[in-house]
Amino acid sequence: MTDTITLNDGVKIPAVGFGTFLIPADGSTYKAVREALDAGYRHIDTATAYYNEEEVGNAVRDSGIPREEIFITSKLWVSHFGYERALIGVERSLKKLGMDYMDLYLLHQPYGDVAGAWQALEEAKKAGKIRSIGVSNMTVKIWNVYVPHFATMPSVNQIECNPLAQQKEIRKIMGAGNVKVECWGPLGQGNRTLLENETIRAIGEKYGKNSAQVILRFEVQEDMITLPKSANPERIRSNLDIFDFALAEDEMNQIRALDTGKPSHDPDAPGVGEYLISHYPIND
Ligand code: A2P
Repeated sequence: MTDTITLNDGVKIPAVGFGTFLIPADGSTYKAVREALDAGYRHIDTATAYYNEEEVGNAVRDSGIPREEIFITSKLWVSHFGYERALIGVERSLKKLGMDYMDLYLLHQPYGDVAGAWQALEEAKKAGKIRSIGVSNMTVKIWNVYVPHFATMPSVNQIECNPLAQQKEIRKIMGAGNVKVECWGPLGQGNRTLLENETIRAIGEKYGKNSAQVILRFEVQEDMITLPKSANPERIRSNLDIFDFALAEDEMNQIRALDTGKPSHDPDAPGVGEYLISHYPIND
């Protein structure tokens, strides 16, 4: 079982979730999610544009674990932005998942008619179809364009975040509304520079933990939700085994000092929205 964080709308979310981006819908997602649920994960993160919501839903049902004990996040793709389209997108995700509600639903990427899509999410929340609503990939610049005009403060902003890219500026702004960070790419997407970092390795040695466990523990102690993904059963298990040790403040500071301020993905770069729509088409 994992530690839980309370969001600004009172919804409780397990601090470690299982990420499913890039796990194919050829049975691999089903297998990985069953493995994750067996290992004790109770929070699964999928998205319309991961094309694997259906396998996530099947794995959850077949696990025999009561639906209300598992926290399910999905995301609305940009092709369903705008108020009317977003209402359809919510129903589409529910249908693919085979569920009558989602615990958290995010605007996956901040392009197009973000304001209209957000309004639809607010309504779906009121209608009980979604328990909590949030955004993703919002930089300071993008946040300041949209969020001050939202009637409801997002509960989370899911962004690229790991010890080499700690997102300190946006975290400061989000902190004012008690909006939690969800880290995608929390292990640097398998980046050797991060996983082989000497500071992290040495801290792990002290606790008998591997570098991935130290990194994930750091993120949770920073009050962030973290979404490691792995297709490997041993790593799926070990990535959750971070609740029997705690990093000391000086160790937290050593890891805080590793920040380069440079995430690999820049949502502010020109053409990103167009690129994403053309590379991740949703045709139904
Ligand atoms: P694998 O599926 O073979 O485990 P992120 O969560 O930051 O996106 O990183 C995912 C990448 O990191 C995947 O390539 C995954 O590979 C790898 N990975 C996941 N867990 C670990 C771990 N504990 N140690 C090393 N690599 C890991």
